[in-house]
Amino acid sequence: MSGPAESPPLDRIAPDEGPITAGLLPLSAKAGADGQLAVGGVDLVGLADELGTPLFVYDEAHLRARCREAVAAWGDGVAYATKAFLCTAMARLAHDEGMWLDVSTGGELHVALVAGVPGDRLVMHGNNKSADELFRALEAGVGRIVVDSFDEIDRLAILTRDAGSNGPEVLLRVTPGIEAHTHEFVRTGQEDSKFGFGLASGAATEAVARLRALPGVKLVGVHAHIGSQIFRVESFAEEVEALVGFFAPLDLGELCVGGGLGVAYVTGESAPSISEWARSVHDACRKAGLPSGVRVTAEPGRAIVATAGLTLYRVGTIKEIPGLRTYMAVDGGMSDNPRPVLYDSGYETFLPRAAAAARPRAVRVVGKHCESGDVVVADARVPADTSVGDVLATPVTGAYGYSMASNYNKVPRPAVVFVSDGAARVVVRRETDHDLVRLDG
Ligand code: LLP
Repeated sequence: MSGPAESPPLDRIAPDEGPITAGLLPLSAKAGADGQLAVGGVDLVGLADELGTPLFVYDEAHLRARCREAVAAWGDGVAYATKAFLCTAMARLAHDEGMWLDVSTGGELHVALVAGVPGDRLVMHGNNKSADELFRALEAGVGRIVVDSFDEIDRLAILTRDAGSNGPEVLLRVTPGIEAHTHEFVRTGQEDSKFGFGLASGAATEAVARLRALPGVKLVGVHAHIGSQIFRVESFAEEVEALVGFFAPLDLGELCVGGGLGVAYVTGESAPSISEWARSVHDACRKAGLPSGVRVTAEPGRAIVATAGLTLYRVGTIKEIPGLRTYMAVDGGMSDNPRPVLYDSGYETFLPRAAAAARPRAVRVVGKHCESGDVVVADARVPADTSVGDVLATPVTGAYGYSMASNYNKVPRPAVVFVSDGAARVVVRRETDHDLVRLDG
């Protein structure tokens, strides 16, 4: 995704021929004496040999560090947006580190509850929550429901009819009319959006009145989310400015600015830290005259998990078309990382066996799926001696990779492994051929 003002569009960043940039790797990444890269003290090539490829590898210490940073920067109430990457181990980790969890479907709610996260640490999202999803959220006693539509208010009215003072605490999702500088598919703050209640149209004001008229529902705050992969903290300050005029007269205690903080994917990009993001939002709240007692929260997804994760593939075929291009095919592709196809997202690639090596050879890394659009890294640079059989890594795949993975072409989904202190634990096992037919009638 490209476009942020101070970050040049990806097509204008010259692909980097130097060794992979340390800032794109998990925090614990370290090359051994033999030049081989280890993460969490675990050698990546050895891990690929043992567990197979493609493989999602997460640095557990990195995940924990980001969760702790979020809690320190935002305080209690900051939620991990589970859509970025969710399995029971991740849900437990974020909960153990003090984060709430944002779930946006009955499925995400289920995984969080199975992981043992208490309902009152969950925030229930969704622009089309079914009556069943709302019922399950209420049954679980979720900490917050973020109300998104008038139809949802109607459903809540029925479901909370007899709730009395035990009814849910809810936030009202509004669209503040902010156009964040990011890909249009992940831009959500503008008035023309399927999400939430518009401020300009008066819908948000009407929704407040309707929620306040429901005896079984407690309106405690306002929520907005302007988009994802945002590099400019100023966009969030603009969001606060746009919200405060609506928010202040309501005399509510909570304002959630959503998620959306961007991360660097390729050399040359840089993103604000979670702490810088929080500072900028808090400053904007102060400047806008928000009462100091208001709880200001956020729900980062990508910024928690993206850089903690990388994908290991094995190179299977190399096709050189003289004078044109070299295609390097790996054993995964758009089924484990659809982001290049969906958003034209750029990635870097490197060889874990030689992480400090220069990468002078220009190749296009592609997957094994039956379409030409199945590109993993369109303009990749790899070491000159990269060959068939090599383990190749793409860093910064921890967010929206596994969570958006599919079985296209009946390719089994990869395993996910957490590494720390020299040990690896499989937190999601690799799918087998059996899994590919287990739902067939
Ligand atoms: N809160 C709400 C209400 C959201 O809709 C989202 C993301 C987040 C928080 C977390 O946003 P984050 O901090 O991760 O940017 N599949 C796309 C990203 C879609 C984001 C959807 N909503 C991608 O791969 O870039």
